[in-house]
Amino acid sequence: AFDLFLAKTGRTIRVPAGATAARALLDAGVDIRLSCEQGVCGTCLLPVIEGVPDHRDHYLGKAERAANRLFAPCCSRARTPRLTLDY
Ligand code: FES
Repeated sequence: AFDLFLAKTGRTIRVPAGATAARALLDAGVDIRLSCEQGVCGTCLLPVIEGVPDHRDHYLGKAERAANRLFAPCCSRARTPRLTLDY
């Protein structure tokens, strides 16, 4: 499990081991855009301020993955206990 900290609202959303970050956000009433839910379309991407995503999408290029500035909540997770999103 890991936490998503939403910088714009100050909310912290817990993502349990068995759920996607997208599901946890939607369950918490956070409005996000989803399409493929398989990490291929890029629709769901959210900006990262702090923390290191565990990129599991197939959309971001190598440099984008290394930059750790975008996060695909439909499938990616976190390598740090918390990801702070500019959202
Ligand atoms: Fe398509 Fe996340 S919804 S990449």
